Amino acid sequence: MVIDLRSDTVTRPPPAMREAMARAAVGDDVYGEDPTAKALEARAAAILGKEAALFVSSGTMGNQIALLLHCRPGDAVVIGEDAHCMLYESGAGAGIAGVQFTVAGRGGLFDVEELEAALYPSAAYYMPRTRAVALENTHNRAGGAVWDPAVARAVAERARERGLATHLDGARIWNAAAALGTSAAALAAPFDTVSACLSKGLGAPVGSVLAGSAAAIVEARRMRKMLGGAMRQVGILCAAGLYALEHHVARIGEDHVHARRFAEGIAGAPGVTIELARVATNIVLFDVDDAPAFVERVAARGVLLSAFGPRTIRAVTHLDVSAADVEAAAAAVREVAEA
Ligand SMILES: Cc1ncc(COP(=O)(O)O)c(C=O)c1O
Repeated sequence: MVIDLRSDTVTRPPPAMREAMARAAVGDDVYGEDPTAKALEARAAAILGKEAALFVSSGTMGNQIALLLHCRPGDAVVIGEDAHCMLYESGAGAGIAGVQFTVAGRGGLFDVEELEAALYPSAAYYMPRTRAVALENTHNRAGGAVWDPAVARAVAERARERGLATHLDGARIWNAAAALGTSAAALAAPFDTVSACLSKGLGAPVGSVLAGSAAAIVEARRMRKMLGGAMRQVGILCAAGLYALEHHVARIGEDHVHARRFAEGIAGAPGVTIELARVATNIVLFDVDDAPAFVERVAARGVLLSAFGPRTIRAVTHLDVSAADVEAAAAAVREVAEA
């Protein structure tokens, strides 16, 4: 049996989720007639504390619709270093919304001062117009780092004072909320829009939601159609999302316990550098001499990890990984390190 820690996107829908999908009441969602899509969107809006939500095919689509909503071509969007919406969305920010990104601070998270330093002066018409700020919580490249809620709120408030729109890439907002012992709605509250993934820690096969004001979501529905993301009997997919919201949000803290066990299990192995204090959620980053070669040797022992850079490796815990799996995975890493 392979233990797959490459990502929390590798989960397979459990039987009860598949049953919910099979039983789903459906209709043509482009005609606004899919009851399960409507139910998911209402539930997601409630959980995220927004007036309305829209089911979208992916986190990427959620982020890109947000950029389209908030910006015009030529505008600048302030992000943290290595933000998913800049690095891992095939250049869509530039290619579709026509925006350019300005990086604030270092390491993915930033504060009010770093936001200020990243803004173009609004009086300078010959410079890009900074129109929006997008935070990522948890931050993937920063190893599942969680924003201090007070800092995130202060950044969003300052952005609003400066006339900027605010978007939260909450692909893993469920992890952030669990780590902080708060609600997703509390973390989303300071932002105009929030995207949240159903297909990562929550284990649905497909989909994300974009939530915001009722007016923003009316417009987002149009943008989704423009992008080819309007689907017909989509309730089959939304049923999985509803099941995930119902059954998999409350358990997500288990993934954090497993991530910590894995991290503690590999700490001290020869040639492995890991900062245990940085393991906050379900993502573990550690360094070795040669990440791709190390990943290959661990894979030969039935444990899949991701080379995240020349020296950095990422391991992610999720619904399909047990406590025994993370112990076995840590043992495999130690064996390779000691070999
Ligand atoms: C922080 C973050 N945002 C957005 C996404 C995009 O999600 P998707 O793969 O569904 O497009 C991901 C995916 O890994 C992510 O980690």
